Amino acid sequence: MTNSLKIQFVSTAVILLILPLSSSIKARKCPKECSCDDTKLIVGCVGKNLTHIPPTIDENTVKLDLRSNNLQMLSRGAFMHTPFLTHLNLQRCNIVKVKEGAFRALGRLVSLNLANNKIDILYQESFDGLSSLKELHLDHNRIEEIQPGAFTQLGFLNMLVLTHNQLVYIPNMAFQGLQNIKWLRLSHNSLNNLAPEAFTGLFTLSRLNLDHNELQFFPTQTMTRLPEVRRLDMSYNPMTYLGEESVFMAKLTHLYLNHMSLQDLSDQAFSQAPVLSQVDLSHNQLHYLERLSGPKDLITLNLTGNPIYCNCFMRPLKEWATAGGVKLLGACAGPPHLDDEPLQAVTSLDLRCRSRGEILKEEDGKEQESKGSIPTTATPKQSVKCPLNCECDTEAHHATCEGSGHTKVPRGFPIKTQLLDLRGNHFHFLRARSFPGTSQVVSLHLEFCKIHEIEGNAFQGMKSLLYLYLSDNYLTSLDPRAFAGVPDLTYLHLEGNQLVQFPGSALSLTPNLFVLHLERNSISKLEPSGLLSSVTPTLRELYLSNNTITVIAKAALSSAFIETLHLDSNQLTEVPTDALPEAPNLEELNLSRNSIGWVGPKAFQSISQSLRRLYMDHMGMEKMSKDVLLDLGPGLKVLTLRGNQLKVLPDLSPLTGLEMVDLQDNPLLCDCALEPLHRWVENVRLEVTATCDLPPELRGQQVRDVPVFTACPKIIAPSNETAAVEPRISKMQKSKPSSLKPRKVKARPGRAKIQKQPKKPSQMAKKTENKKTVNITN
Ligand SMILES: *[C@@H]1O[C@H](CO)[C@@H](O)[C@H](O)[C@H]1NC(C)=O
Ligand SMILES: *[C@@H]1O[C@H](CO)[C@@H](O)[C@H](O)[C@H]1NC(C)=O
Ligand SMILES: *[C@@H]1O[C@H](CO)[C@@H](O)[C@H](O)[C@H]1NC(C)=O
Ligand SMILES: *[C@@H]1O[C@H](CO)[C@@H](O)[C@H](O)[C@H]1NC(C)=O
Ligand SMILES: *[C@@H]1O[C@H](CO)[C@@H](O)[C@H](O)[C@H]1NC(C)=O
Repeated sequence: MTNSLKIQFVSTAVILLILPLSSSIKARKCPKECSCDDTKLIVGCVGKNLTHIPPTIDENTVKLDLRSNNLQMLSRGAFMHTPFLTHLNLQRCNIVKVKEGAFRALGRLVSLNLANNKIDILYQESFDGLSSLKELHLDHNRIEEIQPGAFTQLGFLNMLVLTHNQLVYIPNMAFQGLQNIKWLRLSHNSLNNLAPEAFTGLFTLSRLNLDHNELQFFPTQTMTRLPEVRRLDMSYNPMTYLGEESVFMAKLTHLYLNHMSLQDLSDQAFSQAPVLSQVDLSHNQLHYLERLSGPKDLITLNLTGNPIYCNCFMRPLKEWATAGGVKLLGACAGPPHLDDEPLQAVTSLDLRCRSRGEILKEEDGKEQESKGSIPTTATPKQSVKCPLNCECDTEAHHATCEGSGHTKVPRGFPIKTQLLDLRGNHFHFLRARSFPGTSQVVSLHLEFCKIHEIEGNAFQGMKSLLYLYLSDNYLTSLDPRAFAGVPDLTYLHLEGNQLVQFPGSALSLTPNLFVLHLERNSISKLEPSGLLSSVTPTLRELYLSNNTITVIAKAALSSAFIETLHLDSNQLTEVPTDALPEAPNLEELNLSRNSIGWVGPKAFQSISQSLRRLYMDHMGMEKMSKDVLLDLGPGLKVLTLRGNQLKVLPDLSPLTGLEMVDLQDNPLLCDCALEPLHRWVENVRLEVTATCDLPPELRGQQVRDVPVFTACPKIIAPSNETAAVEPRISKMQKSKPSSLKPRKVKARPGRAKIQKQPKKPSQMAKKTENKKTVNITN
């Protein structure tokens, strides 16, 4: 039968509604909103504002184009009926959520396009079942989070496109499972941090795009995990400096570092990238460059758009380039007689300097340095004054003496220094006025300096200081005048010390403090003498995790503006209910990993208006009052109760604003007392995993799935709702005749634990809708 004949036949058949056809001549269904090409097995339903995937798409379809619809959510098993798809286009479908298992059954899919949607989280197992997928487009979404295991099933994926999203951080092992990935595109996000093992496991990756992000440093360690990468695009990141051995990549040939803010580049920056052939450094702030060690086969070095000053300091580079046949792109930005002269055209002889005297005179005019520093003149970079064993970058206004074995705070930094990095030295003690001549320093790093005492007025004179890092020292207490003279201090890091008290009096001199880190200290009590409100009226975030706090006195927290309070990993035995009224703007409270066995009815009443995120994991909680959540109501967005000892959970239905809930790892007793939770889980449009632990025959089953609740007396539910629930029950019994017999439990203990976002029967979404309808008609 020819194709045209077949088409004709099909349409005739449809018109006449003669549906039973012999198996040799198969009529292809074509949903009315779509156009179908039966020979190529293509179905297109583009721009139809569809809210559901048409159920009548022919099951043999190989290419399905659903661009520009209004699908909003892809539920589990959404494509069960079209298992032969190879290409699926879901661009611009307003998709907010891709549920786990949404693509299950699409084992032949090669290309999946989810670009231009509104997805914010990639759940573990979102892409389960796509075992042949080669290309995945997720660009132009709102992805902020990639959950561990999101890509584990994509063993054949070649290209992953995550450009134009909102990623800030890539956690360790984020891309685990991509065993055949060649090209990973992460451009146009807001990445400022990549975990050291972020790209671990990508043994086949040859091309990586990280351009247009917020990386301030070259992520050396992370990149060393990518043995096969040949092309790396890091352009458009705000990096100012590339240090020695920054690029440690054995096979890298093409490196794009253009349009950054590079002020300087170590001559050893590429020493561990032996096969580099193209380096693009265009549009940075480089004034000169030393000859580069490492790459033996460099072909071009693009310096276009840098303010290269063509004097004698450029001579080594020029001679090196000429000898090695390296093409230098770009032009001189001075001195005047060489302005705009292509670097390729200037000769080594053109590159001359004035006398040393002249240079020094000029430098002196520019920088009024304090005395006692050691001037050197070997290269222009070092011709400014800078303490011994330190590096001072006068363009970037950075000075660093990190890990240089100093036992006294060095002096004589350039007066304009804004970032002073002294971490990893051995100061032991900071005496008064330890930092003369640093009035413009904004950020001071003193981590890991073995400091056990800070004398009063130690920072005196640092009147621009906003960020002070004193983490991981040996401080046991703070002198009340320790922060005298730094009134604008805004971010203070004191985590990882041995403080035994909240350093209230020292903080009374920091009236602009906004964020205070005190994690990993030995604070055991928060007392009213801490007087947060009077000492730090502006404080918004207070981190006290991993102390030994047992008691929080009534007035201890009083801080009118505090929004974030982390009290996790302490020794509290109850919710500090009495102290909370003093923090009326608290939005985020972390109480995880305390030993709070019981949460009483009015535990959070005083902050019910403001609280948005409440974390209560791993507290050994056995009971939670029914009323506690009533207070919190629609404002609460995040609630975690993971890893407690709860047998029963209250009805969560008052929490209508919940966006995330974690109830995992509780020994729930699935009997009628849990019916309200069951009903809520069934109705809510959220991913909820709540697993029965008892009775034993239900162990491991989801509260949502177990049939026991159908037998519960309906008195528990308000009468109106009972009416609404009734029809569902009969339906459920019809569809699951065996529902009264507990199903066999599939033992998957390990998995249940790892899994953050739970599973759900594919019918969930539909069921909810049915019920809603029932409710309305009632
Ligand atoms: C698309 O559907 C929604 C409701 O499903 C409706 O509000 C909207 O007006 C429709 N848009 C168009 C362009 O038809
Ligand atoms: C050098 O950089 C400029 C500016 O970014 C660019 O236009 C040019 O194509 C680059 N040349 C090479 C050979 O990469
Ligand atoms: C608290 O301590 C534990 C164990 O030492 C550590 O794993 C965790 O990262 C710490 N948390 C914080 C916030 O410092
Ligand atoms: C809350 O505290 C727990 C335990 O320390 C920690 O694992 C978790 O990341 C914290 N949550 C937030 C949002 O800080
Ligand atoms: C049923 O619901 C309606 C409206 O939602 C309410 O006015 C009425 O009081 C409820 N009846 C009972 C018995 O709760």
